[in-house]
Amino acid sequence: MTGIHTPVLLEESLNALAIDPDGIYVDGTFGRGGHARALLARLGAAGSLLGLDRDPQAVAAGASLARRDPRFAMEHASISRLAEVARRRGLCGRVNGLLLDLGVSSPQLDEPDRGFSFSTDGPLDMRMDPSGGRTAAQWLAQAREEEIARVLRDYGEERYAKRIARAIVRARGERPIVTTYALAQIVAAANPSREPGRHPATRTFQAIRIHINRELEELRTCLAGVCELLTAGGRLVVISFHSLENRIVKRFIRNEARGDRFPRGVPVTEKETNARLRVVGRPVRPSVSEVAANPRARSALMRVAERLA
Ligand SMILES: C[S@@+](CC[C@H](N)C(=O)[O-])C[C@H]1O[C@@H](n2cnc3c(N)ncnc32)[C@H](O)[C@@H]1O
Repeated sequence: MTGIHTPVLLEESLNALAIDPDGIYVDGTFGRGGHARALLARLGAAGSLLGLDRDPQAVAAGASLARRDPRFAMEHASISRLAEVARRRGLCGRVNGLLLDLGVSSPQLDEPDRGFSFSTDGPLDMRMDPSGGRTAAQWLAQAREEEIARVLRDYGEERYAKRIARAIVRARGERPIVTTYALAQIVAAANPSREPGRHPATRTFQAIRIHINRELEELRTCLAGVCELLTAGGRLVVISFHSLENRIVKRFIRNEARGDRFPRGVPVTEKETNARLRVVGRPVRPSVSEVAANPRARSALMRVAERLA
C-alpha cells in the first residue's frame, strides 16, 4: 500500500525526547509525520515543532499538517542543512529535542516510480529528492567497475561486490540498465550467496541508495551541527537502520561525551574536558511484538544523548 508509513519505536522515541510541552522540537526526517503528529499531541499551545525532509512528497504532507496546526512548520531541506535552517529561524541553542528517523519511508519503498525497490518494477531512480542529482540508472551507466564494486562493498557490505560490479558492467554494454527489475535480475544471476529470507539484490540496492543520496555524508554533516542547535538538557534521538549509520551515531555521541583527550592521570573536571553530550541509557531495539506487526522495524536501533550545560 502506498502513502502510509508506520512510525518505528514511537513511544520509545517520544519518551526519550523527554518532552517539555512548551519546548521547541525538530523532526529532521518528517516522512509522513507519524512521529511528528504524536510529538505535537504532547506539546502545549506554546510548544513548537519544525519538520524537515528532502522528499517533496513528504514536504507536501508536512505542508498540509502546517496549514492545520500553527505550532508546526515544514521545510524542504536535507538534514545536512539543518544548522543553516536553524540559524535562519533563530533556533540555535534553543532546541529541546531533535529526532532523526533515518533511511527511507514506506511510501518511498512502495511506490514503484521512485525506483527504490527490487520487488516492484519501476524506473531505476532511487533519489529521495527527485528535483536534483543523478538517478541510480545514470550513475550505473557511467561509473567505473571499481567504483561500483567499492560502493557495493562499503555501503552494502556485499561479499560478492566485485562479481556483481563486473556483471553490471557487462550487462550495460548490451543495453542500458534502466529499471529496478533489470538490475535485480542481473544481481541475482551474479550473486552466488543465498541468505535466508533475503533477496540476493538487497545489499546492492541498499548500497546504491546510500551512495545516490549521500546518506552517510548527510548524517555526519548534520551531527556536526547538533550541539550548537540544542539547549542545555536538550535531547538528540537517532533511529538508524543499518550498521554504517549506527557506527557514525555511536562514535559521534561517544566523542562528544568524552570531550578533549588529556594525558592519563591529569585531573580534569567534566567542564574542563569540553564534553558537550551525555549518553542517555543503552541503545534501544524494537520489541518482538513491534517487529511482528511491522517487519520494517526489525533493524532499527535508537540512540539517545543529552546536551550538557
Ligand atoms: C524513515 S522515514 C521517516 C518516517 C517518519 N518518522 C514518520 O513517522 O512518518 C525517513 C524520511 O527521512 C527522509 N530523509 C532521509 N534522509 C534525509 C536527509 N538526509 N535529509 C532530509 N530528509 C531525509 C526521507 O525522505 C524519509 O521521508
